[in-house]
Amino acid sequence: MRGATVILRSGPGAMEAWYMDGSDGDQREPHRRDPDQPVSLETLQALGVFHWKLNADIYEKDPELERIRKDQGYSYMDIITIRKDTLPNYEEKLKMFFEEHLHLDDEIRYILDGEAYFDVRDKEERWIRIAMTKGDLITLPAGIYHRFTLTQTNFTKAMRLFVGEPVWKAYNRPADHFDIRQKYLLSVQSCGAVQMDG
Ligand code: LAC
Ligand code: NI
Repeated sequence: MRGATVILRSGPGAMEAWYMDGSDGDQREPHRRDPDQPVSLETLQALGVFHWKLNADIYEKDPELERIRKDQGYSYMDIITIRKDTLPNYEEKLKMFFEEHLHLDDEIRYILDGEAYFDVRDKEERWIRIAMTKGDLITLPAGIYHRFTLTQTNFTKAMRLFVGEPVWKAYNRPADHFDIRQKYLLSVQSCGAVQMDG
């Protein structure tokens, strides 16, 4: 469904990603390395992570969003707002979203307002932080280890998309026994050189 049929839309105001530092500070901080180590959209694509930039001001009537939903089969959608002052047990929930996990289906999120970080593991197990702002639509492939957090602005409004009836079940790491995990690992090995150092 994804793969060959998807055109990578980086466009103006392209989404930013970087390798994270290993420090323990607040998860909502950027955690950039010093010096900064940016990650390209091509690198993300090789991990099965795809991105579109859309005009979130017109999401209710956006032909481009409609086209993507039709092409990718994203039949389901809802909208969630995560903010400190309205979500009960906010800090607790934020911690839960930040547990490293995978899903048996793709995770598809479109940021309509505010900000969020998605962290994904690269092939060498390094954390890549993906900074999502208004207009960023991202797809994380089934089987990829990832986690989610708000930024220091403590606010995001996101559209959740899904192929068919949604399943939000998350499997915290370790979850390597799932077929989809093994399938994912094979898919990333075949589209780039596997590093075999040490
Ligand atoms: C999710 C985010 C927390 O699974 O990754 O909704
Ligand atoms: Ni998830």
